[in-house]
Amino acid sequence: MDDYKLVIHGENALKGDTYVSGGKNTSVAVIPAALLCDEPCVLENIPDIEDVHVLVEILRLLGADISFDPASKRMEIDPTTVTKCQVPYAYTQKMRASYYLIGALLGHCGEAEVGYPGGCSIGNRPFDLHIKGFRSLGANVEDRWPTITATGPLEGAGVFFDRITVGGTINVMMAAAKAEGNTILYNAAREPHVVDLANFINSMGGSVKGAGTDTIRIKGVKRLHHSTYAVIPDQIETGTLMIAAAATRGEVTIHGCIPTHMESLTAKLLEMGVPVTESDDAIRIGVLRGHRAVNIKTQEYPGFPTDLQQPMSAMLTMAKGRSVVIESIFENRFKHLREMMRMGAQVTLLDQTAIIDGVSKLYGSPVTATDLRAGAALVVAGLMAQGDTEIYEPGFITRGYERLEEKLRSLGADIRREKI
Ligand code: EPZ
Repeated sequence: MDDYKLVIHGENALKGDTYVSGGKNTSVAVIPAALLCDEPCVLENIPDIEDVHVLVEILRLLGADISFDPASKRMEIDPTTVTKCQVPYAYTQKMRASYYLIGALLGHCGEAEVGYPGGCSIGNRPFDLHIKGFRSLGANVEDRWPTITATGPLEGAGVFFDRITVGGTINVMMAAAKAEGNTILYNAAREPHVVDLANFINSMGGSVKGAGTDTIRIKGVKRLHHSTYAVIPDQIETGTLMIAAAATRGEVTIHGCIPTHMESLTAKLLEMGVPVTESDDAIRIGVLRGHRAVNIKTQEYPGFPTDLQQPMSAMLTMAKGRSVVIESIFENRFKHLREMMRMGAQVTLLDQTAIIDGVSKLYGSPVTATDLRAGAALVVAGLMAQGDTEIYEPGFITRGYERLEEKLRSLGADIRREKI
């Protein structure tokens, strides 16, 4: 239970310039991947978010010499001092990406004893495909709740993912990077952070080809050398800021982003009538009075990202007409809409489909965040609503967004923390 709530006084149109921080989902992969290196590494543009601090704690527990400066976003990791390969459940349950320590430790020392991951309650989120991938590489994996134990040695092999999995692709790529021989990942995820991890491994002297396509070829290497690597900007924070600007009928330029990562959202905003213009590292959202309703189906990259479904469906509650949103990636990712019904949203929920009939007004109300992106969706709702919206359990938001309140305040949002 967080000891504070967010209070948003809505209906301020956001105006001005803001910037995007380094990516959460790339950082939580690249930081464990530094364990694959045989020399110290430097990471840059790492966001100052809770998930990063948890990973610093875990690497320190393993014996790594690690330092992170939130002001400069610079992290130094010396993996050569790592003496352990066990990560207790007390640590791993704090976040989803803790399971990347399995692939990283298998690559680092050929064994891993890692507690089950935590993460947002948006579905049952198994990681059977990760385990299948490790076993394809010859690892002996025992799944005994709440611990996964995996031991090498690892031999390169063909790994076919029964369904596209971002985490599975990342985890098995890490384990394969230093396996004996060649590995091919079939039906691999193509997200920007999968490509970012491959680029990081290659910058250390690894050999990962085809990242960004559905077939990734990895040649195992004996040693990886020092690298100084800056992670990509956060695709989902970029999208969340774009949506917040459009939802408040504001005029905002978002700097330091990669517009090509945003194409599916940009296309949807243009379909709604929102003016969106791009330069090589910025996106500008222009003013629009009446948003047209649109239909959304979440899909793996480059389709519409499931992580943007929640803020987007929040905005659609005030679009003109009926929107149909199909959440095809996770089973339980509409909880924010249930909360928004208290604010006057007209929504019918049927399993993984939400039918949203746009209303002309939302009314501020106390609501509760249930996961990271639901929290972001409720912030968008509060920005749109008349009067005050109180968001309880806002701690979810700080897990994955760096200084979101500050950025929104600098754009004119009336958003503050209040002790409970
Ligand atoms: C990553 O989760 C992200 N998390 C999620 O972002 C994101 O929503 C998701 O990818 C999809 O883009 C991180 O990167 C830390 P998946 P992940 O494996 O890896 C099923 C956020 O808000 N599946 O691509 O867990 C799974 O249940 C978070 O930043 C299996 O069945 O996603 C889901 O239905 C939320 N078996 C689907 O596949 C497996 O072994 C996609 O999951 C693995 C996954």
